[in-house]
Amino acid sequence: MADLSCDFVGISSPNPFWLASAPPTDKEYNVRRAYEAGWGGVVWKTLGEAGPPVVNVNGPRYGAIWGADRRLLGLNNIELITDRPLEVNLREIKAVKRDWPDRALVVSLMVPCTEEAWKAILPLVEETGADGVELNFGCPHGMSERGMGSAVGQVPDYIEMVTRWVKQTSRMPCIVKLTPNITDIRKPAEAAKRGGADAVSLINTVNSITAVDLDLFAPEPTIDGKGAHGGLCGPAVKPIALNMVAEIARSPETRGLPISGIGGVTTWRDAAEFLALGAGNVQVCTAAMTYGFKVVQEMTRGLSEYLDSKEIGLGDLIGRAVPNVSDWQHLNLNAVSKARIDPDLCISCGRCYAACEDTSHQAIAMLPGRVFEVKDEDCVACNLCVNVCPVESCITMVRLPAGAVDPRTGLQVSADRADWTRHPNNPMAQQAAE
Ligand SMILES: Cc1cc2nc3c(=O)[nH]c(=O)nc-3n(C[C@H](O)[C@H](O)[C@H](O)COP(=O)(O)O)c2cc1C
Ligand code: SF4
Ligand code: SF4
Repeated sequence: MADLSCDFVGISSPNPFWLASAPPTDKEYNVRRAYEAGWGGVVWKTLGEAGPPVVNVNGPRYGAIWGADRRLLGLNNIELITDRPLEVNLREIKAVKRDWPDRALVVSLMVPCTEEAWKAILPLVEETGADGVELNFGCPHGMSERGMGSAVGQVPDYIEMVTRWVKQTSRMPCIVKLTPNITDIRKPAEAAKRGGADAVSLINTVNSITAVDLDLFAPEPTIDGKGAHGGLCGPAVKPIALNMVAEIARSPETRGLPISGIGGVTTWRDAAEFLALGAGNVQVCTAAMTYGFKVVQEMTRGLSEYLDSKEIGLGDLIGRAVPNVSDWQHLNLNAVSKARIDPDLCISCGRCYAACEDTSHQAIAMLPGRVFEVKDEDCVACNLCVNVCPVESCITMVRLPAGAVDPRTGLQVSADRADWTRHPNNPMAQQAAE
């Protein structure tokens, strides 16, 4: 079995699977059970400043979206940071860390955006023996209205300022957790780096309303007839998170900045994708809330078997896909493919036909007996049919070899690469050549 132990900004853990700051890491009871189940680390549920704790709603705090099989695809929440007293959390953190020295324990923090508030809480956390802090600049509801969370995370200058305060005050590694509710994720990541952050973690939840109750005419979850926007997480947000992780991993300004990948990790495969795009570890919330702590066992076993099958180590996987993340104008326009339907797998549902005929390129023929066939002379290889077909691998994209004639264009497929930057239809390419 591949060795999954890893070091993230000097914090070691037996595997790269950490629980994200959220209800699963809210208290000692949970975190001990999470470690027993096999989690490599946790980020403790966000602590606020000393004094009266925040108050959560006393009604439903979750909304959801489901797939047709009722599998949870997205979870929306209006929960705040911890509503337990600071001293209780600190006491529990100290006890847990003492008993589980080999596991990572990072403490998430969110206090008012003043130097005194940040400098007051850091020594208290340091005293617990915790491995590091994560600055929660991401929470999009409840706390942002009070000038914290994503209200800070949306202003790069504030991120830089607070990160600098933290690094000046504390010896602990500092991870800055980013909000996805921003246009260009590279800007807050750059600010975190400028402030001295040891790493960034992303994503926190995505601003959302998951549903509207059509009897009450109010967003869900509804509390006494009213609803508020919440934060979306779970499998639905994974594509957003992967893109943002990749943007930071490949940007010249932030390349090499350690990244903790968060957002929809449910299986070992999801984790492997984050790692391949440059994350040094992953954090998980919704999958643990949906399937329980033992879900980590499938993740560690699966990742280990995958690494063994590829004959690579964990370090070889991290960032392996980053060089292949490109911009559109650099994609090879000479790579020509065609869709192929496997008649043995086809169940004649006709979805590919409807999709291509009505909304794509009229490149699928429906023959007598509901036999479906691709017309190469019309197929642009858009892949829509592959995605709407209910049978996995029934339609595949097959690349034409160099030298073959594309029946759609009548042109021979070239072995050379050619992208938009050099294409004759690109006026900028012509100017560059002149
Ligand atoms: C109910 C709930 C509460 C959360 N509370 C916090 C929090 O206190 N601090 C924080 O940084 N993130 C919080 N999060 C966000 C998660 O840590 C994580 O960033 C997000 O859920 C995406 O990961 P996932 O798709 O694996 O759930 C919370 C998420 C949920 C569902
Ligand atoms: S790849 Fe696109 S164009 Fe080709 S058959 Fe499928 S849907 Fe039609
Ligand atoms: S969508 Fe798939 S299964 Fe349905 S007709 Fe097309 S190829 Fe066959």
